Amino acid sequence: MTGLLCYCRQGFEPELAGELNERAGAAGIAGYARTQRNDGYVVFVTDEAAALDQRLPWRELIFARQKLQILAELPQLDASDRITPIIAALEGQQRFGDLWVEHPDSDAGKPLAGLARSFGNALRPALRKAGLLTDKTNTKLPRLHIVFVDGTHAFVCVADTRDSAPWPLGIPRLKLLSDAPSRSALKLEEALLALLTPEEREALMVPGMRAADLGAAPGGWTWVLTRQHLRVSSIDNGPLRQHVIDTGLVEHLRADGFHWQPEVPLDWMVCDMVEQPRRVAERMATWLREGWCKHAIFNLKLPMKKRWDETKLCLDLFADQAGKSLTIRAKQLYHDREEITVFVTPARR
Ligand SMILES: C[S@@+](CC[C@H](N)C(=O)[O-])C[C@H]1O[C@@H](n2cnc3c(N)ncnc32)[C@H](O)[C@@H]1O
Repeated sequence: MTGLLCYCRQGFEPELAGELNERAGAAGIAGYARTQRNDGYVVFVTDEAAALDQRLPWRELIFARQKLQILAELPQLDASDRITPIIAALEGQQRFGDLWVEHPDSDAGKPLAGLARSFGNALRPALRKAGLLTDKTNTKLPRLHIVFVDGTHAFVCVADTRDSAPWPLGIPRLKLLSDAPSRSALKLEEALLALLTPEEREALMVPGMRAADLGAAPGGWTWVLTRQHLRVSSIDNGPLRQHVIDTGLVEHLRADGFHWQPEVPLDWMVCDMVEQPRRVAERMATWLREGWCKHAIFNLKLPMKKRWDETKLCLDLFADQAGKSLTIRAKQLYHDREEITVFVTPARR
């Protein structure tokens, strides 16, 4: 069996399956999504796994925390020797630059963490002996992933290090600093890591730039922006934490984020207002269309039902109404719950 294996937030398998089915169909690649509710992953079965892998960049997948290409599925491993069949499945493969032994981030997958750790320690020397793993991590070479979905059922997968999440399980381990005004700060930090390439982070977020933060209280996102030395107009009727204002980079305006507009065009706008996603998408489109900001990061809260349909509808509505040539990337981040985060920047010519 070949195909793609993608991790997602537990409970969002139908959304990820819908996304993969639709994106593969649009790319003219035959296959089907195989999934079970609450598994925390989806397999997309296709004979054209390498072609599909190339057509679906990880950064452009909304509900996938990680994207792996399946080399083999080993559904009936013998618990007394799991190594031999894995080495056999890798026959003829080139050398890998790293090994990650993983499990889905689900109720059934989490108890496999101990097995994954100890099995990784046993497999690593066996792979090196077989010439399948470099002595030191080499990020220029493909990364080998062994994904246990139970103790005797594993997928042998490969990831391109330039086109996959650089974090085990697709989960960035971000530490909430003690002076962060809210846990929400982690959402914007993760968005910058997951939705922008390292080059974009360097080029697009430069000290001295000007930004607006709509729905800013108590100030988590504003604080993240000030740490990048941006000057921020923070819009919210609620209070901001004093130490955020004390940075000297922040102007707090008690106004309605759906009506306020900047007097001069800004570099960035970020928005974390809890509102109907269509209403937010429309307002965000107005900002881009009117040129009030160049780049934006905003959240869309998802409804309880038909979440994939609503996601598509809101993103299409945004793209239509923004009416410009834009790069639009959306992701359900690890720190997002019932929401997705969208990054928008002018399309590169
Ligand atoms: C999830 S909180 C934002 C958290 C913030 N991003 C942080 O990191 O601390 C949502 C905020 O949106 C604000 N909000 C909701 N509707 C708004 C509106 N129409 N105008 C301005 N702020 C609004 C609320 O007052 C609330 O403070």
